[in-house]
Formats: sequence, structure tokens, C-alpha cells
Amino acid sequence: MTTVHDRGTVKEVMSKPAPLLNVSQLSKHYPVHSPFGKLLGPRKSVQAVADVSFQLYEGETYGLVGESGSGKSTTGRTLLGLTSATSGEVWYEERDLTKLSNRELQQMRKELQLVFQDPFSSLNPRKRIGSILEEPLIIHGIGSKRERQEMAFEILEAVGLQPEHYFRYPHEFSGGQRQRLGLARALILNPKILVLDEPVSALDVSIQSQMLNRLRQLQRERKLTMLFITHDISVVRYISDRIGIMYLGRIVEEAPTDALFRDQLHPYTRALFSAVPDAARVGRRERIVLKGEIPSPLSPPSGCAFHTRCPLATERCKRETPELREIRPGHKAACLLI
Ligand SMILES: Nc1ncnc2c1ncn2[C@@H]1O[C@H](COP(=O)(O)OP(=O)(O)OP(=O)(O)O)[C@@H](O)[C@H]1O
Ligand SMILES: [Mg+2]
Repeated sequence: MTTVHDRGTVKEVMSKPAPLLNVSQLSKHYPVHSPFGKLLGPRKSVQAVADVSFQLYEGETYGLVGESGSGKSTTGRTLLGLTSATSGEVWYEERDLTKLSNRELQQMRKELQLVFQDPFSSLNPRKRIGSILEEPLIIHGIGSKRERQEMAFEILEAVGLQPEHYFRYPHEFSGGQRQRLGLARALILNPKILVLDEPVSALDVSIQSQMLNRLRQLQRERKLTMLFITHDISVVRYISDRIGIMYLGRIVEEAPTDALFRDQLHPYTRALFSAVPDAARVGRRERIVLKGEIPSPLSPPSGCAFHTRCPLATERCKRETPELREIRPGHKAACLLI
């Protein structure tokens, strides 16, 4: 897969004054229910997302990367209000989405859409594709019956499906086609912001690039702003203008795609990229194998959450939690040693 350097959007993005979406210190903790009630001491919680801040600028694609369980899906769902935030703010058009009522959020849905990680579980098995696609249009009172039908056919074509698919049920599709259906359903309301959670993970590599190209075309035509969640570094390199790297619920590094692939600042990013041919920093091509497993978000390590696996960790890293700070223009990292 090749890199995209020709889009010119990064420069444009960085000079734009106000972000379209501003996520500020977003946290999501899930309470854990113990079979022994309170007998085992205070109730614990999974710290799925911890103090995450980032901005989405109009027309850009921001890639969110991290290992399984690092909190990518939870970040996506929480910022759209599909899961309530434990703390933090998400500003969109002068409104904090975390403070909206369900009714207000429902109105917002038109502009902010999610493509689910698991498309099958999000498609009603008893409905034909036509009515699945038209349902959001009915909810938002858009178009006549005939117009809605036309829009459904149009969106099927836009994501690379056939008109006859309109009459089929979700179980009659392959995994890859279902991912396209998930995309079609999210696009039919013509949203401004699209959160895509692993939208190409069920596809083989050749279909993957077809789908990514289609996404980029749709983005240009519809002036979409995208948050693209994936664990695949080649995919994120291809599609993103900027990238955020997550580890145990936190963003540990953020940079424009080119800058990040030229030089990774955080030891975790270096280790992650060292496993991918051609992605690692120049002069550091040897594979960095991290010791141990990713710790449980039920009891994340003190100080820098990465210190238990970091080859460079010092005593200070066990005590102090590093802030995500700008090291170079547009390139941020959360590491005490930089
Ligand atoms: N509803 C829930 N209740 C309790 N814990 C949850 C819930 N949803 C997610 N978690 C936990 O939160 C953490 C982050 O999960 P999340 O699904 O956001 O990770 P992810 O980065 O999307 O992983 P993957 O790449 O596997 O999709 C995990 O430890 C997960 O077990
Ligand atoms: Mg996920």
C-alpha cells in the first residue's frame, strides 16, 4: 500500500483556526460488577478512555490507532454520545455533545454518524436493506417515499453495491458487503462527520484498497470529516492526514501522517511501527519487542501507563503521568523522556 502525500490537506488543516469537533479531556470508565457485591472492597472500574483530547478539522481524516482494548471504539462511541462520558467535553458547533439530552442528540445524529465495527449486529436481521437504509430518512422527516427510495438506490451505488441488494436481508450478504452496507447507512443522511470503526477489517487486501479509495472519493464529493479507527498501520497511513496513537485509553502521540512515519517520538509508537515493514523510523529498523502483556485497564500502572513495558523507563516514569505536549509544530507526544 502506498502513502498519500499528495493531498495537501495537512498544511491546509493546520492553518485553519477553529476545529469542527473539539474533544477535551474525555474519559469513560465502565463500572465492574463483582459477583460478591461490596465484600471485596470499593467498586472497581475499567478505565477504557482516560483524558483524551484531540481536534477534528473540516475535511480531514484523523486516524486513531492502537492495540486491541486500547479504547478506540469507546472513544468513538463516547464522542458521538452513544455511550455517556464519565467526564470531559466534546464541542461541535458551539455545543457540548456530552451535555445534550437524548432528543437533542437524536437531532445531531444527522450530522455525526458512526460506521460500526461489527456491521452485522447493527443491521436489523428482519428488515430488507431498502427499509434499513430509509429508516433514518423517515426518522428525520426527509423526502417523500419515492425520493427516499431513490436516495437508497443512490447510496447503494455510491458504496459499490448493486440495485438488487435493496430487496435483500442482511444475512444474505458477505462480510465485506455488510461493511459497505454499514457505510451506506451512515452516509444516507449526508453527515458532516463520520466515525468509522475498523471499516475495512473484514476485507482482504485488494478489496480493502478498493474500499479505501471509494471512501476517499466519497470524502471529497461530500466534504466529509472522518475519524478513522483501526489497528492496521498500513491502512491508517494510506487514509489519514493526521494520526493519534492510543495506549491504555490515552493518546500517547499525535502527528501529521508524514511526520509520524518519518520519525516516531514515543517509545510505544516506535515499538508498534517497528513491527511493520517500511514504517519504522530511519536507523531504527530492528524490531522492538515489548516485554509483557498490555496491562489491564482495571488497574492501569501508576505514572506513565507505558512504564511497565517501556525499554527506556526510569523511576520518574513510575510516579509522574506525562501530558500530551507539542514537541515540534503539530507533533505531540506524552513522554517524560522527550
Ligand atoms: N460496555 C463495556 N463494559 C465494560 N468494559 C468495556 C465495555 N466496552 C469496552 N470495555 C472495555 O474497555 C476497554 C477498551 O475497549 P474498546 O472496545 O474501546 O477497545 P478497542 O481499542 O476498540 O479494541 P479493539 O481493537 O479490540 O476493537 C477494554 O478493556 C474493554 O474490555
Ligand atoms: Mg474496537
